[in-house]
Amino acid sequence: MQRKKLQERWLLLVRSGMIGIASFWGAGGLLAQTARYPPPVKFTAEQDHQNMMDQLGIKTLREGPSGDEKAANHANYDESKANPYPDLPDALTLEDGKKVTNAAMWWDQRRPQLVDLFSKDVYGEVPKHTPKVTWKVVVTDKERVGFLPVIATKLVGHVDDSDYPLIHVDIQMTVVVPANGTHPVPLLMMFRKSELPAPAQPPEQDLERINAAVKAMLVERDPSLQQVFETYPAYNPIASQEKDPFAGFAAIMAGADPPTDQQLIAAGWGYAAIDPVSIQADNGAGLTRGIIGLVNHGQPRKPDQWGALRAWAWGAGRGMDYLETDPAIDAKHVGIEGVSRYGKAALVTMAFDQRFYMSLIGSSGEGGAKLNRRNWGESVESLTGGEYYWMAGNFMKYGASEASFGAMNASNLPVDSHELIDLCAPRLVFVSYGIPAKGDAKWLDQKGSYMAVVAAQPVYRLLGAPALGVSDDYKTAEMPPVNHGLLDGKLAWRQDDGGHTDAPNVKYFIQWADRWMDYPPKLQGK
Ligand code: GCU
Repeated sequence: MQRKKLQERWLLLVRSGMIGIASFWGAGGLLAQTARYPPPVKFTAEQDHQNMMDQLGIKTLREGPSGDEKAANHANYDESKANPYPDLPDALTLEDGKKVTNAAMWWDQRRPQLVDLFSKDVYGEVPKHTPKVTWKVVVTDKERVGFLPVIATKLVGHVDDSDYPLIHVDIQMTVVVPANGTHPVPLLMMFRKSELPAPAQPPEQDLERINAAVKAMLVERDPSLQQVFETYPAYNPIASQEKDPFAGFAAIMAGADPPTDQQLIAAGWGYAAIDPVSIQADNGAGLTRGIIGLVNHGQPRKPDQWGALRAWAWGAGRGMDYLETDPAIDAKHVGIEGVSRYGKAALVTMAFDQRFYMSLIGSSGEGGAKLNRRNWGESVESLTGGEYYWMAGNFMKYGASEASFGAMNASNLPVDSHELIDLCAPRLVFVSYGIPAKGDAKWLDQKGSYMAVVAAQPVYRLLGAPALGVSDDYKTAEMPPVNHGLLDGKLAWRQDDGGHTDAPNVKYFIQWADRWMDYPPKLQGK
């Protein structure tokens, strides 16, 4: 009965022409497409997290500490309990126990081992084949940064999605260089929103013409508007979006540092702003989309695959590909910068992509410069729980309390963050922090990060690069006073008296890097 009714309704629809041959074709095409490209899996972050636990055979994870100091399970801030695993893995000992005694052994044997270990167990492997990225200029504009003329270019890096057309990735980046350049400029790439600094606006006369044309169009569409425009003759539908060039000027006159972009341009550098979330979303639910999802054809990750930090770093590498083609830029002197989670991403970028010459690593904490083995503030368990998607799935093993392989913790990690810094050697790394009183939370573990920089020194020296210039004994290391930078080596440290930002350290970073680059070039005859 039921079935007959359905048949009748179906016939009726066909006869009435509501379902025609064309829609059969359409549905067929769609079916074929769906069979060829199953739609991306839509997991919540919790489902994705559970899926990874299942793949790894993990039953339970230890919970990360709370950042709220009043909570019962709050993070440890007692220095006497901060180093439960005081011995760090030795960066200069090969897996088979042999000592690394010269630079060749480092480059040929030890560095590749560390790259492997960090890839497999910490940040994840970048797939062997990633799709091609084609950069296109969206707009090139003559603008000003502060009072200085610049050429600003907004770009989109389109990632080839022909293997899986259901996911689109378009990397957003803006490149800004001083106008009237006489030589290629060094450049700092920063993980931040890609925006033109101050899009040039038409002069007043042209704006008047635009407004007259807009008013005429509006009146044509709705003649009653004529009267509105007559009642308010001075009203213009389109206002100038000119940025006030004097904004922030009073503060600068009163002694404040100019914003980072102004400092860079004033120093004769360029900068690029690359938007991390245009590469990969900053959440677990997004792992079946973005570049990670595109390569996996919308399926969940396998345990050894890359997490968001490595994906952001990959995107920065594609940005570097573009910079290498731009004659205005000295691609041999490009740096990478980020703060907080993007400080981690900047360090990961610098560690894996040796084309980056220098880096400013702002308040990077756990997963960045901080030692994983420290028990202070944010912990390994924080990144196997809530922010697991920054890391490889395999990293979760180190937070497991019950699993097919037993239990593991930070002490089982085959590497620690001093060795991540060592992957950057002998290139320039400036580790920057602020102070808790101004909002650069204790949670980030400034001291645990300083210990990592100290422990990273021997590799720098082995490669002939001066490091911090302090003892290598990380166990007894004490941070230098606030605002006292250790800026003589290629490995640098400075804790400023600001908050959760690297802005107060930017001027020190520029001076320090200029010295190593011998920049700006001396004028001939002088
Ligand atoms: C949280 C997180 C940190 C991260 C920070 C941020 O505090 O625990 O790991 O660095 O957010 O990016 O703002």
